[in-house]
Amino acid sequence: MRGAKSLLGLGRLLAAAEHGGAAAAAPITAAPAALLRGCPGALPACMQQAAGFRGGAPPARAAAAAEPEPVPHASWEESELTSAQLTPRQVVEMLDRNIVGQAAAKKAVANALRNRWRRHKVASPLREEIHPKNMLMIGPTGCGKTEIARRLAKINNAPFVKVEATKFTEVGFHGRDVDQIIRDLVDNAIIMMRQRLRKDMKRAIDEAVEERILTALCGETASQDTKNSFRDLYRSGDLDDRQVDIEVPAAAPRIAAPFGGDGSMQEMVIRVDKIFGGGRGRGERRKMKISEARPLIEEQEAEKYVNAESVTREAINAVEQDGIVFIDEIDKIVTSSEHRYGGDASAEGVQRDLLPIIEGSTVSTKHGNVNTDYILFICSGAFHSCKPSDMLAELQGRLPIRVELKGLTAEDFYKILTEPESNMIKQQQALLGTENVELIFTDAAIREISRVAEEVNTNVDNIGARRLHTILERIVEDVSFDAPEKAKESGSPVVVVIDKEDVTAKVGELLKKQDLWQRGLHTGGSSSGGGGGGDGETQAVAPQHQQQRQPVGNVIEKHVLYRGRGMRLFRVLVRLKVFQLAGIAALAVPINTFLATGDVSGTQVVMASALVVGAAAASSTLWYYSRRYVGELALLPAAAPGGTPRLRFSVLDFWGRREDNDVPLQALVPPLAELPEAATRAALADPLLPIDVEGDRQYFLSVRYGRIEDGATLRALLTGRLPGQALQADGDTGGDGGNGRP
Ligand SMILES: Nc1ncnc2c1ncn2[C@@H]1O[C@H](COP(=O)(O)OP(=O)(O)OP(=O)(O)O)[C@@H](O)[C@H]1O
Ligand SMILES: [Mg+2]
Repeated sequence: MRGAKSLLGLGRLLAAAEHGGAAAAAPITAAPAALLRGCPGALPACMQQAAGFRGGAPPARAAAAAEPEPVPHASWEESELTSAQLTPRQVVEMLDRNIVGQAAAKKAVANALRNRWRRHKVASPLREEIHPKNMLMIGPTGCGKTEIARRLAKINNAPFVKVEATKFTEVGFHGRDVDQIIRDLVDNAIIMMRQRLRKDMKRAIDEAVEERILTALCGETASQDTKNSFRDLYRSGDLDDRQVDIEVPAAAPRIAAPFGGDGSMQEMVIRVDKIFGGGRGRGERRKMKISEARPLIEEQEAEKYVNAESVTREAINAVEQDGIVFIDEIDKIVTSSEHRYGGDASAEGVQRDLLPIIEGSTVSTKHGNVNTDYILFICSGAFHSCKPSDMLAELQGRLPIRVELKGLTAEDFYKILTEPESNMIKQQQALLGTENVELIFTDAAIREISRVAEEVNTNVDNIGARRLHTILERIVEDVSFDAPEKAKESGSPVVVVIDKEDVTAKVGELLKKQDLWQRGLHTGGSSSGGGGGGDGETQAVAPQHQQQRQPVGNVIEKHVLYRGRGMRLFRVLVRLKVFQLAGIAALAVPINTFLATGDVSGTQVVMASALVVGAAAASSTLWYYSRRYVGELALLPAAAPGGTPRLRFSVLDFWGRREDNDVPLQALVPPLAELPEAATRAALADPLLPIDVEGDRQYFLSVRYGRIEDGATLRALLTGRLPGQALQADGDTGGDGGNGRP
């Protein structure tokens, strides 16, 4: 039965080949590989489709014409439902399995996929005019942008590559240039084509392998009947340990995973490459077990189908017609027009380099030239510290479809935790399950996790659904740590139930941070401003929590805004300075004596004094900067409830130790307040930005080189727009404060 089907499959292949105009009279016994080589018409249907190979009638129909009898189990045509055949609704349904909400983005992506397929149905002169509508996905951190791309890659059968914009640098700079995106896309397409081809041909390959092994077992001259008598045994695996004598390529690579197994794509390609490169020609005969021989023969048979040249050609074709490039974190190469925090000189250059690729140009790869006219580009970014309109105008124009993803709510979090097929709760349960620990979350616990996640996101730092990972990790931390011993002690599976109370107990730390935030920044802001829309939300959550957690009042926590770089080196220098000064002091005595006893030339005196003066100058400069160069700038909660937050400047003291100077927020003179745009930009680009603090010294920050931990708050601080600062501004210049706030 299987043999018959295989023949049928071959027959259809041949029919398709015939239709393509090649090998018209090839006998059915000819090796199919010979037909496949240099004959794209004989490629399996799904490959042709993905490859945008649309010459002549569709192969399925061609096959049907040459093969009148009905084929209930069509081998490869039906085996794979390509994404091009999926309707937009089906694509959304598939995305729904893993991604919660974000309907607009899913819809846009689904339509874009369908449009690729539609375009192929349009007749030629018009088809060439239809270009894909590139897309820009905008949404806050952790709301599912990258996740959509990841899932898209899985359901999409066209060549796909996902890159991060930050990996690239302008041509000529150190780093990867954007053409690499297209090269990666082609590499992916080749891997995909080879894999698909092998999958499609699996049946034919299996048949050939079986025949060769049975022949090796029974002898070249054995009759079909003899072979058939072994066939069932072979298939049941009973012969696996029997030795056979087979021919293997001279440098046969050792093959770990059997064909069609779970070996990674790369691994497979490497194996195939090896065979292409080194395995040609006559091999040697070796005796081995059937179970060992099978994968080797499979490689040899598969090689006949995976012809490097035609696969590459089809892969490039597929890339040009159906390729999809997902560029993540595109906002990271956009510099805000207002501020240049973390701005990078070459960022704009990368945008400029992207233009021709997105608009359509030819990129040369090692496999040949690739035209990017019809490649679909989907870009995505959070755009926290810049706006889409800060992108180069030309780039904006090339991303005409904008989709906004929404921030996630507690309800969404609940769904994320419970609905996706492999949701986070299931993952945790599976992990602990391996240690014989059965983890059970009550529904109330999951609700509480979702609620806390939303609350912390709203009040501390919005990291979207990533917050769920943080919280879950904290909740199972102890169980996870103790699991191996617990399960061993009891000898049977241990059941651990996580209830709402456990959640509350475990996430206390996170909520404390939030308290700090509210007592520090938010109370300051809301008591003065009377609450704008955003603050109102915060307020709604705040009181309930403050009641619960009154006693935490004296916990000192801080929120770091900035960290200076090079502190370690600086500290070493400062410590050396102490020795230097000691050295000078020690030198003073002999120099003095020397001078007193005379007998010394003028040059020697000059040199000695220069040494002393130079060393003293260097030391005092170091001393000057060490107590001013900020190693860490942080916000601290108000000293008393209802007060305004404080700032902590951490610098090095005389001995090179850390010195924390806490000052009231109002003492800082905002260096960038009301500066014109150009001046702000210049100030931020300076290596050191001086900051005056009333009643204290002047400090130096290096926005340009330092590490910005919380850019938004730092910016607000430097421009005098933090709530606590505004209080002071209100007092000082009434009109001004009134202007700035609603
Ligand atoms: N809508 C969602 N449905 C299900 N899971 C989600 C959703 N949004 C985010 N997640 C989960 O949160 C994690 C982070 O999401 P993702 O990587 O997509 O964030 P992002 O939007 O790309 O954020 P960023 O702008 O920071 O890159 C993912 O691992 C995913 O499991
Ligand atoms: Mg992302």
